[in-house]
Amino acid sequence: MSFFITTPIYYVNDVPHIGHAYTTIACDIFSRFNKLKNEDTFFLTGTDEHGQKVEKAALAQNTDTQIFVDEMSKNFRELVPYLGCDNDDFIRTTDDKHKSAAKFLWNKLKNNNQIYLSNYEGWYSIRDEAFYQESELTKVENGFVAPSGAPVEWVKEESYFFKLSEWEDKLIKFYEKNKDAILPKSRYNEVISFIKGGLKDLSISRTTFKWGIKVPDEDNHVMYVWIDALCNYITALNYPDINNNNFKKFWPGVHIVGKDILRFHAVYWPAFLMAADLKPPKKIFAHGWWTNEGQKISKSLGNVINPYEIIDQYGLDQIRFFLFREVPFGNDGDFSKDAIAQRVNADLSNNFGNLIQRIASFIIKNANSEVSKPNEIKEKDNKLLQEFNIAFRNYLNNMENFQIDKALKNIFEYLSEVNAYVDEQAPWALKKTDINRMQDVLYFITLITIKCSVLLQPVIPSSIDKILKIYNLSLKDLNLVNIEDFNPNTIKLNKSNPIFPRIEQ
Ligand code: MSP
Repeated sequence: MSFFITTPIYYVNDVPHIGHAYTTIACDIFSRFNKLKNEDTFFLTGTDEHGQKVEKAALAQNTDTQIFVDEMSKNFRELVPYLGCDNDDFIRTTDDKHKSAAKFLWNKLKNNNQIYLSNYEGWYSIRDEAFYQESELTKVENGFVAPSGAPVEWVKEESYFFKLSEWEDKLIKFYEKNKDAILPKSRYNEVISFIKGGLKDLSISRTTFKWGIKVPDEDNHVMYVWIDALCNYITALNYPDINNNNFKKFWPGVHIVGKDILRFHAVYWPAFLMAADLKPPKKIFAHGWWTNEGQKISKSLGNVINPYEIIDQYGLDQIRFFLFREVPFGNDGDFSKDAIAQRVNADLSNNFGNLIQRIASFIIKNANSEVSKPNEIKEKDNKLLQEFNIAFRNYLNNMENFQIDKALKNIFEYLSEVNAYVDEQAPWALKKTDINRMQDVLYFITLITIKCSVLLQPVIPSSIDKILKIYNLSLKDLNLVNIEDFNPNTIKLNKSNPIFPRIEQ
């Protein structure tokens, strides 16, 4: 099986923040999870570089727009590895390859009689790069604002339109057949009621600025930034060559997006695709938004979270773990220093880290750095092994359903049981009374620690690399397909330093 997962492509008007980091890490987790299942996996991210918002930002800095986007895009590209993310491609909408794919898509829609020329008159928000109905807006002192709080302005210009209204019934039919195509369920319902509220034709070109992909055979129009941007997902698979291996293997894919951009992905994008004789996305997952110590994150409040700073302060895997263990994926979350310290200390330092550290150093000291497969399995041991299998099944099921927090909970609840087994079997006491039993117990604990490590790898990959080295293992040996049967005759251990130091508040 194959698996294609994408982040939204990020606007280059500003530097990356926690919101961008969050979506990218989420995709990395699912990509790594699928790679660990030996699936053929493609993880795409990149930058969205056209449109009025980006043009304005370049102008404000008095920089040539192309030079500006080249610089800004670099910030996003460099952030990806700093987040511990292992993407397969990084796309830029200013790439020639993308421009020609977007033009091909435009012509395809035009040839399929889906585009016509008319005039647009209505509200537009440059910050959201979105058109709004007046009924969606809120009156403020000096005008109106969009649901996002962004200011809107009245625009009136000649525009090409996409016949979105023709796709209302077809979209509803598609989503009725594919009830899991939008997750979480509440977002699915939201999209359905938006579509049922009636779809108007969508303005897809602009004439009041130049920074965009030129509409084919037109001098004055550039494409609306969203039709250009959404096309990135198929450009990366070599569209328009739909018979190439990548396109055949990976389309349709899974899009992870923030809740604010669900409408573009779940309404406009599938309509464009179907109108161009292509399949709509397999799945769209909308995640929530982060606040900072209870406050909305915004530049004007000066509380924007810089991903580099928090990673340097708390550690990469500590942050990755916190973001996905603390808050159910799909819900809004609050970023707080206390919450990070509590979560990391309780789960990573105490529950998991201490288990590894105290058992590994005990084995090194008292069992000649080695454990071997026991001849006898007692009922307690069998229970420990069986319960791993149950936790593993639940973990798989939750990960398949994009519920990372629940999948992590399955492992950490199980690790608490492993700790209880350690305390009950007390290898340090057995050392004096029954050295054979001590060795057996150490084997079971080590085996289970390794198995749990493999399950945690998608979320905390660099720590798991270090942990597996303690046991002379790597992911070349282990994955989610063979983990249940992993049962080696001997495991030799190396000395190590604590992997998850406690965070002092
Ligand atoms: N360029 C468009 C996407 C085009 S995809 C074809 C865009 N870019 S963005 O840079 O503004 O936003 C990218 C992502 O960051 C969105 O998914 C958005 O939800 C997410 N976040 C921005 N702020 C956020 C938080 N405070 N918390 C979590 N995610 C947030 O939209």
